[in-house]
Amino acid sequence: MLNNSKWISYPEMQLNRCPVFKKSINAKGQVKKATLKISALGCYYATIDGERVGDFILAPGFTSRYRSQVQEYDVTDMIKESCELKVSLSQGWFKGRINWRVNKDMKDIYPSIIAELAIIYKNGEKQFVYTDQSWECSLSAITMADIYDGEHYDCGFEESYTQVRVNDYPHDRLCAQQGPYIKEQERIIPHRIFKTPKGELVIDFNQNLTGYFEIKLNAKKGQRVSLSVAEVLDKDGNFYTENYRSAKSEFIYTCQDGYQSYKPRHTFYGFRYIRVNEFPGEISPDNICAIVVHSDLVRTGYLNSSSPLLNKLFSNIIWGQKGNFLDIPTDCPQRDERMGWTGDAQVFVKTASYNFDVEKFFEKWLTDLSIDQLDSGYVPSVVPQVWGDDWSGCGWGDASTICPWQMYLTYGNKQILKKQFKSMCLYLKYIATNSKDKYLWTGCEHFGDWLGLDSPAGSYKGASSDDFIASVFYAYSTSLVIKAGRVIGKSVAKYERLYENIVKKIRKTFKEYKTQTECVLALYFGIAENKEEVARKLADMILANGTRIKTGFLGTPYILHALSQNGYVELAYDLLLQESYPSWLYSVKQGATTIWEHWDGINDKGEFWSKDMNSFNHYAYGSVADWVYGVACGINTVEEKPGFEEIVIAPKPSKKLNHLSAKIETRRGTVSSAWYLEGDSFRYEITTPVKSTIIIDGVVHQVDKGSYVF
Ligand code: BGC
Repeated sequence: MLNNSKWISYPEMQLNRCPVFKKSINAKGQVKKATLKISALGCYYATIDGERVGDFILAPGFTSRYRSQVQEYDVTDMIKESCELKVSLSQGWFKGRINWRVNKDMKDIYPSIIAELAIIYKNGEKQFVYTDQSWECSLSAITMADIYDGEHYDCGFEESYTQVRVNDYPHDRLCAQQGPYIKEQERIIPHRIFKTPKGELVIDFNQNLTGYFEIKLNAKKGQRVSLSVAEVLDKDGNFYTENYRSAKSEFIYTCQDGYQSYKPRHTFYGFRYIRVNEFPGEISPDNICAIVVHSDLVRTGYLNSSSPLLNKLFSNIIWGQKGNFLDIPTDCPQRDERMGWTGDAQVFVKTASYNFDVEKFFEKWLTDLSIDQLDSGYVPSVVPQVWGDDWSGCGWGDASTICPWQMYLTYGNKQILKKQFKSMCLYLKYIATNSKDKYLWTGCEHFGDWLGLDSPAGSYKGASSDDFIASVFYAYSTSLVIKAGRVIGKSVAKYERLYENIVKKIRKTFKEYKTQTECVLALYFGIAENKEEVARKLADMILANGTRIKTGFLGTPYILHALSQNGYVELAYDLLLQESYPSWLYSVKQGATTIWEHWDGINDKGEFWSKDMNSFNHYAYGSVADWVYGVACGINTVEEKPGFEEIVIAPKPSKKLNHLSAKIETRRGTVSSAWYLEGDSFRYEITTPVKSTIIIDGVVHQVDKGSYVF
């Protein structure tokens, strides 16, 4: 790809400064079609005569450092007789601070661009403009840009052009655009502008979001706009940024004379509040709006209930996904992480695939997972690999098996399994080679039941046994390899034997389940032999804890399932509807507008549980939505007929709510399931686009597509 173009860069290595590259174009006649193909090591922002090319934010996106996506823009209407193509470049994800752990391997690689402009004239002639030594470059008005630290823009900066450096970097790293574009999605106007007790001027957008903002103002040359962002206020109502850790997330803009507007081009922020540090004159709501940015995904899932708190939770889950699906599934969008933590993605993937159409999004991310996976089978804890660790933890590495399988279930396309099967098997090899025991996964490092509330003092890891959790995930991933292999016609006999042996060995070795998470995993993954007893134990532990959970990242996604599958539907509802800490609705009652990383991100005294691991936009616990879709409203895919080719709808209502409904716009049409408490019984309204099995109160109804009332 782009075989005739060269990778070009600024002659000296610039870290967080943004060079700009330019090339004059003289059109030779009437343009029939003009196409710009472009990619970068870093993030680029291209213009023709000052007008932006395309609407892909932070192009070319965040991929494994071993590949760069090429975008293709139709620029026919932008080519004039004589015009100027300009491309500004930041270090972005490729060389920015986010990548510092692996940057040492890339210290000699310059942030670069590569492009080709192809013009076809009406008379049939063609003209090509390639990036090469004829381009010029300068430092630009963007005097600082970094994903973590924000952006500085100085209108007074004067560009001074020099020759570019031509780099001999390979072309085979270039690939076609695979994921959806990252785009501006919506604008939010200030909800209120107020002074904090400390006297700081703060704008509240009333929604924690990911993106940036646009400023519009009249000013004099040299005046400055300086803004900082925050997700929450502290208990005294003051602006709080400590949870951003080292991410500066700042914006400094030096004005020109007159009316002007600007929005950052090379960064994004996670925020609800903006502190106005400097502004020419008094800021009004007309001077600023927030712009929500994420991957361009079609919304497909909707939940609704008779409980306003629950509805707010549903909204927070959607906002958690919007805020964290910016080209890759990030853990959080604000502090100095914003990485594709595999565990978080795995935990949330089912919910994600119901809420939005994420097939292409995960296809891209899983391609990066395979690229960054080593021959040993090691799956990095974050994909793209910017973390630089060398061990895969259970529940994190398993993203390699769980995510492709979920894509297959939700969208019904075998291709994803064909593409990922090698990676799935390789991951099992990694476990087998690293474990101390043959049929268990023992003696290795793990994140465990991350942030479980039964963690020992000073630890982020819940009290559940690493060896047990790891072995259970080993069994689960093996079962998924078997299923995937069968779908795509591979021989899976050796994995079937492996699975049997793992389950046998786990049952022999781990006789007792001591924590909520251990019980949940033993039940949900079919390890527990005496399900009734284990379920009772789990229920007792929950009740003894005041009908509250203690689970962390690995227990939480399955706890309601483990209960409802074993006769404790009402207890599952009690947990879902629990309002006091720790619970899903606790954060809602505390004013959350997204999902928190920690059950008590803000405790009931209004204090923060910690400075360094306290994101207020961490989607993982939003995975509870899959229980609402799949159990409470009962919409289920059928493994043998995936992609909603057939559907089983088996709602499990509770009189604790008057109404609950779910709707998913599947590839086959809309499926919806709603129930209403009427007097002492329930009325069900179900619509299905395909042949379905509806199960109401244990009675099975085989139906064709259509709408039904029970
Ligand atoms: C991230 C998590 C992640 C974890 C690994 C954290 O810093 O924010 O969401 O999964 O590290 O344990």
